[in-house]
Amino acid sequence: MRLVVLGAPGAGKGTQASQLAEYYNCPHVSTGETFRKAIQNQTELGKEADRHISQGRLVPDDITIELVKQRIEEPDCQIGFILDGYPRTVPQAAGLDEILSKKGLSLDAALHLELSEKEIFRRLGNRRVCTKCGANYHLDSLPPKHPGKCDRCGSPLVQRDDDQIDTIKKRLIVYHQQTRPVLDYYEKQSKLLVVNGEGSISSVYNAIINNLETRSLRANDCH
Ligand code: AP5
Ligand code: MG
Repeated sequence: MRLVVLGAPGAGKGTQASQLAEYYNCPHVSTGETFRKAIQNQTELGKEADRHISQGRLVPDDITIELVKQRIEEPDCQIGFILDGYPRTVPQAAGLDEILSKKGLSLDAALHLELSEKEIFRRLGNRRVCTKCGANYHLDSLPPKHPGKCDRCGSPLVQRDDDQIDTIKKRLIVYHQQTRPVLDYYEKQSKLLVVNGEGSISSVYNAIINNLETRSLRANDCH
């Protein structure tokens, strides 16, 4: 499966992408997560990314496209990937098509998770993330078994720096200006799959799997 997961901040991209990666047995590649690790490790990439992320802006296209190119050329991505949070601009989408077409490959689908702004603020305000493994929790809908500790590795949970209310507002403006056009890009390629992200984590997941399986059955019918 070669899938990109699109959606506004807090739409559930990371939550769903990690389950889809397990289901399809391929890597979950999150550009946001890669940048956060680089920031934590204070690498050159991290320092550059931090300048943009802390302000709610996108990291520049040239850096991001090169990062994704290198990642999906690694051996584990040859069987497929679930790309979470990329592409976020039309040049990034075109960049991905170029990388894949050089290998004679293409995307299977672009999944868009739709969510109201009210729910976005509720989700991001109550999100907590693991400082070590990056696992995501929600104080109401997905609480950790022991408060403040990661279920997977036991490390402390914190609020993401960019989940402050003013930064969420800026991220949403950037999303509408720069990322919404990516939906048209995939619509024109008949690759766009829209799923309502408002339900519970499991009902959204089931809707995604149903949509993807129906789509792949239809694609097989054509051959
Ligand atoms: P990134 O980390 O991708 O952030 P984002 O797009 O703002 O999205 P989030 O991670 O905040 O939300 P999500 O959709 O993954 O939702 P989640 O599953 O966590 O990027 C961060 C920054 O890096 C960007 O702002 C940008 O600066 C930079 N960047 C990254 N990629 C880039 C790119 N390609 N180009 C340029 N810059 C880039 O869910 C949210 C919360 O809700 C969680 O607490 C979760 O537990 C809960 N939840 C999820 N689903 C449900 C549900 N169905 N019901 C109830 N609760 C739920
Ligand atoms: Mg995420």
